[in-house]
Amino acid sequence: MNGRLPWHVSVMVAEVMDALKPGPGRVLVDATVGDGGHAMAWLEAGGTVVGIDRDGAAIHRTSRRLSSWHDRVRLVHGCLSTLCDLAPGDPAPDGVLMDLGTSRTQIEDPERGFSYQSDGPLDMRMDRSAGVAVAALLRGVSVATLSGWLETLGDVPHARRVARSILHCGPPETSAELIAAVEHVAPPRLRIKYLSCVFQALRIVANDELNELRQGLLASIDLLRPGGRIAVLTYHSGEERAVRAIFRREQGQCVCPPGLPVCSCTPRTRIRAIEKGRRPATAEVAANPRARSARLWVSERTDVQ
Ligand SMILES: C[S@@+](CC[C@H](N)C(=O)[O-])C[C@H]1O[C@@H](n2cnc3c(N)ncnc32)[C@H](O)[C@@H]1O
Repeated sequence: MNGRLPWHVSVMVAEVMDALKPGPGRVLVDATVGDGGHAMAWLEAGGTVVGIDRDGAAIHRTSRRLSSWHDRVRLVHGCLSTLCDLAPGDPAPDGVLMDLGTSRTQIEDPERGFSYQSDGPLDMRMDRSAGVAVAALLRGVSVATLSGWLETLGDVPHARRVARSILHCGPPETSAELIAAVEHVAPPRLRIKYLSCVFQALRIVANDELNELRQGLLASIDLLRPGGRIAVLTYHSGEERAVRAIFRREQGQCVCPPGLPVCSCTPRTRIRAIEKGRRPATAEVAANPRARSARLWVSERTDVQ
């Protein structure tokens, strides 16, 4: 199935390239290479790419798409939390890109279970060779835990009622069963909102996305050469909060909760901010509605390693 799907439409390509400045001899670590759209723009400008993705199927597809540049591309199956082991430290990269979330290719493959618009096994793992599928996670979860996930990771309205409905007739095994359980309690005019929030929350849990993101951000800053830049495309508020907190701390600002008598967040000045949540242009959102929630964050490494 995966091999026949259309390519993902890459988001804010011009803005990302403008920030990371591709050129002959310049090295990009594309840490979420997906279908390789951003990587391709970097290669067309003469640079070299190390492309990483935790989805083995994405690596397979993208190796075909980028085959014309095979002497300047290395593709690696792996995840953000192990970035330092996967990407080159010598020479240190000029840029790191993290374009978060899922690709169109993953969402539109019903066998992956990411979409509330089709039926399929309730999996949602980006790496199908590791971790626990959503259906299995739901088999062992209490209403209280599930409602906590829905509330904190998906901002799901009336999270407890939705959690109770999801577990009421036994945990769902397919996306259609999950959709039916959510529709049972969602007001009809808010059906899409409830479904997208629930699917987002469960995907984040199944892929441990926020921990992956935090570890990936710190590893990226470790890897960059002085003057090198990291660009991150986020798609929801949880990702935005994680990026903002780590970038602020690495810019030397304290990010402790207000009221703590002594700072415990160990801020250090390693980067400076270039972009803080830039939005896509109106024309891009009109052409590709999936881009509407994208925000671009860019920082530059300032200290000497
Ligand atoms: C939005 S897509 C990237 C699209 C890509 N920039 C393009 O232009 O085609 C996000 C990709 O990141 C991958 N991904 C998400 N979390 C990851 C993680 N923690 N480690 C590695 N890859 C990850 C997903 O598998 C997916 O292929």
